[in-house]
Amino acid sequence: MTQEASADARTLLSTLTDATPLGEWSAPGRVNLIGEHTDYNDGFVLPFAIDCRTYVAVAPRDDATIRVASAFASDVVETTLADLPTRFPNDRSPEWAAYPLGVAWAMVRASGVDTTTLRGLDLAFASEVSVGAGLSSSAAIEGATASALNDIWALGSDRVELARLGRAAENDAVGAPTGIMDQMASMLGRPDAAIFLDCRSLETEVVTLGFATSGLEMLVIDTNVKHSHATGSYRERRASCEKAATIMGIASLRELHMDDLERAEQMMDDVTFRRARHVVTENQRVLDAVRVLHDDGPNAIGDLLLASHASMRDDFEISVPELDTAVEAAVSAGAIGARMTGGGFGGAAIALVDRAKLERVKDAVTAAFVASRFGAPTLFTVAPSEGARRDA
Ligand code: GLA
Repeated sequence: MTQEASADARTLLSTLTDATPLGEWSAPGRVNLIGEHTDYNDGFVLPFAIDCRTYVAVAPRDDATIRVASAFASDVVETTLADLPTRFPNDRSPEWAAYPLGVAWAMVRASGVDTTTLRGLDLAFASEVSVGAGLSSSAAIEGATASALNDIWALGSDRVELARLGRAAENDAVGAPTGIMDQMASMLGRPDAAIFLDCRSLETEVVTLGFATSGLEMLVIDTNVKHSHATGSYRERRASCEKAATIMGIASLRELHMDDLERAEQMMDDVTFRRARHVVTENQRVLDAVRVLHDDGPNAIGDLLLASHASMRDDFEISVPELDTAVEAAVSAGAIGARMTGGGFGGAAIALVDRAKLERVKDAVTAAFVASRFGAPTLFTVAPSEGARRDA
């Protein structure tokens, strides 16, 4: 993590333009504490925003053009405001640029605003959120962009609407069929808290985590195995869930509960049933985690994290050996609980660890990766933090 991204964004902007900046906005990545692949099934999730952010510094232009540049890619990409409404879905921008331009496109589409009334802009991005680690670097770009454009263009959207627009960019501009968890976490995050989100109603509840006061650290173990949700496997899982819901005659797997599983098993092939069982049991684990956090505090959620990981490994089959090794090594060395986080097929695991055991757990994970001849993981701690905001 560089922690210098804010300055980097401003410096990059100054290489693009001499205009006086309009301001700077930022939005965080997220860690999902529990509730994986439940969001697009109208289910429950419990993510928190992390203290790694993407910053965007913005300056006005005197023509009707939007340009985006970033510290993580060399190309400056531009579009005229007049072309914006038709730029997607058949756009050929480099993938990273489809996130900010996709958000601008989604905002124009949703608001119906006359683009001749909008101001041209230069946007310069820099990020502390590792790309491909499953920490939602994309939602951080979307959240920062949506917050900036909403303020500058005076569109008047609230945070939930901005999250929806971020997902629209991801789904319809980038073409990744994801749910809304990441954007909601990035927009609504609060310090020391997770966001309990009902993905059907989009109602949220702030759930205090109390990691710091309980002497706990949240360790992220980035396996450095890269994934992309725009590609096949994520889409395939989503299709299996839709198939399971169709077989049961329901709108989404949200409507299936633990005591329906026996009946479901009779009606489905083994693979489809196991995909559905993951979603149903995971929804229950999210509800249990919210209750346990409230009643007994974060030291008591370890078993739920482990059960979630086992379900993703065995039923949903989205883990990889590096993630399993990270989880096993962390728990053997004394972590309270651990699980892969995010969409899977690579990315990061999280481990909840007593501060006194942190170094031991990190050493154990590193040693386990060496023993398995995996590439070295990147280890760092994160703290539950504030969502999208204007910084300057
Ligand atoms: C990715 C997607 C989310 C969610 C998770 C899995 O992060 O962007 O919408 O589906 O995977 O829980």
